[in-house]
Amino acid sequence: MQQERILDFIKDRNELAKGGQKVADLIELGFSDYLETGKIPFQLLENIALKDLLHYVETSHVFYLEKKLPEISQSILSLCKAFGQSHPITLVLNHFFHKYYKDLKDHLALEDEQIIPYVSVLVQAENGAFENLALLKICDRYLLSNFHENHSDTEMDIRIVRRTLMEFNAPPSAESQYRLLLNQLTAFEKDLHFHSELEEKVMIPKALDLEKAIRG
Ligand SMILES: [Fe+2]
Ligand SMILES: [Fe+2]
Repeated sequence: MQQERILDFIKDRNELAKGGQKVADLIELGFSDYLETGKIPFQLLENIALKDLLHYVETSHVFYLEKKLPEISQSILSLCKAFGQSHPITLVLNHFFHKYYKDLKDHLALEDEQIIPYVSVLVQAENGAFENLALLKICDRYLLSNFHENHSDTEMDIRIVRRTLMEFNAPPSAESQYRLLLNQLTAFEKDLHFHSELEEKVMIPKALDLEKAIRG
């Protein structure tokens, strides 16, 4: 089953006016390529301007929080009902989701509140907003230079819970919910891996180059 992708989400939110679709089209092309070949097409992604990468990453965060996580939560709820309260997988799924939801929210909030605004200021400074140079001096270089060290793998926990779920047979009354949740987890795991690689290997290196050019 084809799951909703970020392009549909952008269209629903009428973000096309911001030029979001053209860039999202290109990035989604890269994502399809990754699904087909298992390799992320960095050469394609490196052609995208930093400000557009920022917009895509920011929109993806909203897409995960407002669309993907509620969908997965709903599937977990309905599957747990079918397994029954005392089944071990119900415990695992409930525990996983509560913890995971919090961890992912914190991860995205850190990027939304610190990384993205800082890189936005860099982009504005590059475009001649010199008053931003003073602002930049106040910000610590620590933010970007330590990004890779502090950036956690948000897809790893999903992989573990997906594999655990596969060790149990689907309840006969809920085979379709079981398959749906497995599909959602598999797709989200890939989505998050692609997202994380886009941040680590394309967006942050570009931002570090720009930071060096501006701040010296
Ligand atoms: Fe992110
Ligand atoms: Fe991230």
